[in-house]
Amino acid sequence: MSTLLIKNIGLLQSPVGSHPHKGAEQGENIKLKNAAVLCENGIIKEVTFEGKLPQGADDADTIIDAEGRLMTPGLVEGHTHLVFGGYRQHEIPLKLAGAGYLDILAAGGGILDTVRNTRKASFEELYDKAEGFLDEMMGLGVTTCEAKSGYGLDFENEIKMLKVVEKLNADHPMDVVSTFMGAHAVPDEYKGKADAYIDLMCDELLPYVKKENLAQFCDAFCEEGVFDVPQTEKYMKVAKELGFKLKLHADEIEEIGGSELAGRMGAVSAEHLIAIGEKGMAALQQAGTTAMLLPATSFYLGKTFAPAKRMIELGIPVAIASDFNPGSCPSLNLQFAINLGYLKYRMLPEEILTAVTINPACAIGMGDKVGTAEPGKQADFVIWDAPDMEMLCYRFGSNMALQTIKKGVLV
Ligand code: NIG
Ligand code: FE
Repeated sequence: MSTLLIKNIGLLQSPVGSHPHKGAEQGENIKLKNAAVLCENGIIKEVTFEGKLPQGADDADTIIDAEGRLMTPGLVEGHTHLVFGGYRQHEIPLKLAGAGYLDILAAGGGILDTVRNTRKASFEELYDKAEGFLDEMMGLGVTTCEAKSGYGLDFENEIKMLKVVEKLNADHPMDVVSTFMGAHAVPDEYKGKADAYIDLMCDELLPYVKKENLAQFCDAFCEEGVFDVPQTEKYMKVAKELGFKLKLHADEIEEIGGSELAGRMGAVSAEHLIAIGEKGMAALQQAGTTAMLLPATSFYLGKTFAPAKRMIELGIPVAIASDFNPGSCPSLNLQFAINLGYLKYRMLPEEILTAVTINPACAIGMGDKVGTAEPGKQADFVIWDAPDMEMLCYRFGSNMALQTIKKGVLV
């Protein structure tokens, strides 16, 4: 048995429970002063506060002194496109000259450019690159993350991507949750034949991914000029019948009914939602679907920011993620998304902490294991170079994570 004591925590702040937090509960965190945590074999055993130490603290194998700082649960990154070949810096001059995200995609660039580079890349190349990203994320305080496929867009390359994620989850300290996103774009060889491409997904890829247990979740890009609502609905219905849990890229650029579809299909999360309207929000609220908001993408695409406060008011659980990908958000820094959540969504620090811990954890099927600092959960923590969440929300551009602890081990 190995034990870890983290002592002298100035403030231990965390949401409580294993369910998605909505409405007023989104802003409810426990705030324990002068706290300590005892962990046993990577699991939280006891949490104490007001200077009291857990039983058996004196015999702990390892002791970390937080020196009076803020400690929170490890951050949970709920939306990434972690595995990809190449980069897309050559798109910036096009963008600055006025080309929109969907214009670049329609001209065969954007996601399709990354598809060509991902197809060319070997398993090892993709693995090594993504492994580096996971290391960087951990240094920024992330201890659990989601990773979507969707740059292969054919049988061989989608499976290659999913196997990279499977191996990363097995080898890397990060918990990596896999999402199959075969319906991310229509590949070159299916240009003008989106329906036939959806059939390929429904007839071959989805059943194979399920049979091989390569992903628990399934996602699609429901967007003007990509997949329309009927195409997306067909794919989601097949996925649901096969037993996938559903996510959806909805209302990112145009409001074409993606959020309503996500609600109708009982999706676990609807993601982006920059262009969502009241009808879409009503659908998410009714279905209990989590809104996975990606403010760094709004920033990078020069778009408006999703109506996060209205969602909280309506009782929609709100999560915040990075959307790390080579096009619309080439940053994996979830701390920057926290800053934007504060300044642009105008969320409170407590609401933001919920949005980067328990709510994304629930949205990726990890709510019973991570996302709060409670006995029985994994000992995943961040000790911040800050006294409180307000400081973390306010400072930007520096890495405020001092120490990241994953399953009771300093990483
Ligand atoms: O979430 N919108 C679709 N997918 C990604 C972008 C992928 C890319 O541009 O490579 C997103 O923004
Ligand atoms: Fe995305």
